[in-house]
Amino acid sequence: MSLKIGRNEPCWCGSGRKYKTCHEAFDGRIAWLKSQGHKVPSRAIIKTPQQIAGIRESAKINIAVLDYVAENIRAGMSTEEIDRMVYEKTTAMGGIPAPLHYEGFPKSVCTSVNEQVCHGIPSEADILREGDIVNVDVSTNLDGYYSDSSRMFMIGEVSEEKRRLVQVTKECVEIGLKEVKPWGFLGDMGQAVHDHAYENGYTVVREIGGHGIGLEFHEEPWVGYNSKRGQEMVMAPGMIFTIEPMVNMGGAAIYVDSENDWTVYTEDGMPSAQWEIQVLVTDDGAEIISY
Ligand code: MF3
Ligand code: CO
Repeated sequence: MSLKIGRNEPCWCGSGRKYKTCHEAFDGRIAWLKSQGHKVPSRAIIKTPQQIAGIRESAKINIAVLDYVAENIRAGMSTEEIDRMVYEKTTAMGGIPAPLHYEGFPKSVCTSVNEQVCHGIPSEADILREGDIVNVDVSTNLDGYYSDSSRMFMIGEVSEEKRRLVQVTKECVEIGLKEVKPWGFLGDMGQAVHDHAYENGYTVVREIGGHGIGLEFHEEPWVGYNSKRGQEMVMAPGMIFTIEPMVNMGGAAIYVDSENDWTVYTEDGMPSAQWEIQVLVTDDGAEIISY
């Protein structure tokens, strides 16, 4: 059960405003959508203004770390060196790399090269070579507030085929972002991502998706890209989640490395690309928190 708040009492969101001028209409809309059979967000994943401020601070580090990687990444470098850069930059700015020891993950960042789909583990043995495409997935914990985004990097001269995969995957995220607005559905975004990838002859990984984020690294909802317009969870102001499709040049099938239980590969050995942004649903659209 939950207690009903008096209309003149402070709103549950922590804004300091009266409930009747703050989230009363919001709660009514959520209740109505739920009665219509839609999936709706729980209050626990609607961020307060103070939490949003903390998450934005965390994201400042996340973005700076990715910028630092962008300035320094080059052929001949090991993925372990990327891990060191991420650890050094994050901690120098007062944050903690969220992947480190997360469910046993051994490093500070995921580095996924070519046919590695995601969760690549940095290693001294993995040297970046001219022609590689690599995803660097950075996540930060600052004072308990989480941020998460990833970018693709092209090492030296990259084939036209791989270049196009990287570009179209970026477009998928941008096209998905356009669908993020209050009282839309996650499926609006998911279908837009999916359709753009398939129109370009690519496939999208089905088993791994984005996620709510903010007070924890991974929160509700799960965010897939094989969903349909008008379906999945309602997007309400104050929700924060990631858009991070993994787009494959070949088939969508994947497998997990049985040696480390982390690294995901394409089944057919063809390249895969991923970009990730962290997004806040606002009263009139969306705000990118980390990119
Ligand atoms: N950064 C990944 C994501 O986008 C999560 C990686 S989990 C880790 O959700 F442990 F591998 F870091
Ligand atoms: Co993520």
